[in-house]
Amino acid sequence: MYEGLLKQYKEYLPITDKTPQIALAEGNTPLIPLKNLSKELGITLYGKYEGLNPTGSFKDRGMVMAVAKAVEDGAKAIICASTGNTSAAAAAYATRAGIKAYVVIPDGKIAMGKLAQAIAYGADIISIPGNFDEALKAVRDIAETEAVALVNSVNPYRLEGQKTAAFEICEQLEKAPDVLAIPVGNAGNISAYWKGFKEWHEKKGTELPRMHGFEAEGAAAIVTGKVIEQPETVATAIRIGNPASWQLAEAARDESQGYIDSVTDEEILNAYRKVAAQEGVFVEPGSAASLAGVIQHVKNGRIKAGETVVTVFTGNGLKDPDTAINETDIKINKMSDLEDMRRHLREGVAAL
Ligand code: F0G
Repeated sequence: MYEGLLKQYKEYLPITDKTPQIALAEGNTPLIPLKNLSKELGITLYGKYEGLNPTGSFKDRGMVMAVAKAVEDGAKAIICASTGNTSAAAAAYATRAGIKAYVVIPDGKIAMGKLAQAIAYGADIISIPGNFDEALKAVRDIAETEAVALVNSVNPYRLEGQKTAAFEICEQLEKAPDVLAIPVGNAGNISAYWKGFKEWHEKKGTELPRMHGFEAEGAAAIVTGKVIEQPETVATAIRIGNPASWQLAEAARDESQGYIDSVTDEEILNAYRKVAAQEGVFVEPGSAASLAGVIQHVKNGRIKAGETVVTVFTGNGLKDPDTAINETDIKINKMSDLEDMRRHLREGVAAL
């Protein structure tokens, strides 16, 4: 039976005899062939659906490792700043480990599903008036003086856990893809994937992909080369103006001969609707940034015809019901009785 990442990739992770075996069967997520989009774009495209992790995002991979190490080091509480997904994962794994989670979120800029999770898992939820970058600064300061372990991706154990997604992709494809497309927020995940691909390359002889990272245009610090004081984007998950792993992300880009580019909110929403409507895969807006980027890079030639591309769908669409409802033309057919319904169906089916 598959139990989780700490067991599955034990020899690739910083695990000792004293590391508690915390698990929610995280990882082992599907690599879904996106057949309609592949045809449309003239490439072989797969989606690594991280939205099927136990708390609905890739954050579970890093959090299981970070929480296990925190417990090993004797921590009774963890803390993180978050645009939502990190807080959900921190809250769940803290509960699993029997310790307390403090989560600090930017006021009003967190998707409802993510807040619901932190509440359900029983975290101590702290809201601040500033944005994610300010929240991260606050928790970094707090963790210096208080008896809490910091579990943001500045904690190196987070990246160790997250690199396992690259291992899985190489195992699922039985090779490395030509291109790995990924959303960039705080820039931890692109750094973790690159580390994972390099380790698999060294140990298993797989090739190295080009890393194509995508920031939202209103939060594109790495692309513009300057800190964005007031980041704005519909993709609240990546509404980050001063990425903590900035340098690691640039190294991933440069070493892999890849790119970090930006996508507009319009491109994000277009990709967001497209992958649900054409492939049956519902992802959150932040996750759609990578597909938006793939579409952009096929157009401008940065991805070439016939290449094998994996786009990382970092979080589940159910996380953010408000965007799903507000950014889509909703057509709900109200019926008063069974006759009405029958007529509606007959018309519809006849037109097929
Ligand atoms: N996609 C989703 C759904 C995310 O939640 C995040 C980050 C990213 C992409 C970007 O990953 O930060 O490693 O570059 N969310 C963090 C959070 C910031 O607090 O949940 P990154």
